[in-house]
Amino acid sequence: MSDPNRPTYYEVLAQAHRRLRPTGYLEIGVHEGHSLQLADSSTRCVGVDPEPNIGFDTTATIVATTSDAYFAERDLSSDLGTTLDLAFIDGLHLFEQALRDFINVEANASPNTVVMIHDCLPIDSVTSARERTTVIWSGDVWKVVVALARHRGDLTITTLDAQPTGLGVIRGLDPTSHVLSDRFDDIVAELAETDYDEEFRSELSVTDVTPATLSAVFGPLPAGA
Ligand SMILES: C[S@@+](CC[C@H](N)C(=O)[O-])C[C@H]1O[C@@H](n2cnc3c(N)ncnc32)[C@H](O)[C@@H]1O
Repeated sequence: MSDPNRPTYYEVLAQAHRRLRPTGYLEIGVHEGHSLQLADSSTRCVGVDPEPNIGFDTTATIVATTSDAYFAERDLSSDLGTTLDLAFIDGLHLFEQALRDFINVEANASPNTVVMIHDCLPIDSVTSARERTTVIWSGDVWKVVVALARHRGDLTITTLDAQPTGLGVIRGLDPTSHVLSDRFDDIVAELAETDYDEEFRSELSVTDVTPATLSAVFGPLPAGA
């Protein structure tokens, strides 16, 4: 890792693949494939993006559509052909979309699936506004973690302080839960007018990325890795 105290989200994602060894991986928002290519060649991968721009050969199934259309029209377990063990949500950077992505991922998950959500630890209120005015832009995706902490006390939530804008890690999923879909409009309204400030750090369960944190969140490195 370049800076062991603040690794990039790519470095953390690579660690997640190394430690979890997922058989099935879903990525929402693949762009040029930089995060997708961190998956091991033995992992079955599905990538969803309305405008994928991957410039290398990949064995992943890339579906050029929005995440909403994907879940409405296709069957993830058929596309994966195996269990969903790890998912990375990095599509449209708006709260309600990222929350819907989480709901759809959880419905296709098992209790052992690990979900990572990019952009959950904003730099400041400008880069985390709903309207993009800066190069680095996390949007208001961070609100998903706040919403999960408030409405889904059964989930295990850790926000890793990975560069540049953090990674939420959600474990203990319940694919039978309808809490978020039943309360969706209320949850979105509850946080609609909220801007990020440092006081949210406690609700976001922020932690540094240390070897011990990575082991606690993703398990130990397998022998030989
Ligand atoms: C920040 S980029 C993803 C970067 C990539 N995960 C990486 O780290 O290398 C966000 C991507 O989300 C895609 N996107 C935008 N709206 C989306 C939607 N509704 N569903 C899925 N992907 C979407 C964009 O086309 C863009 O390629």
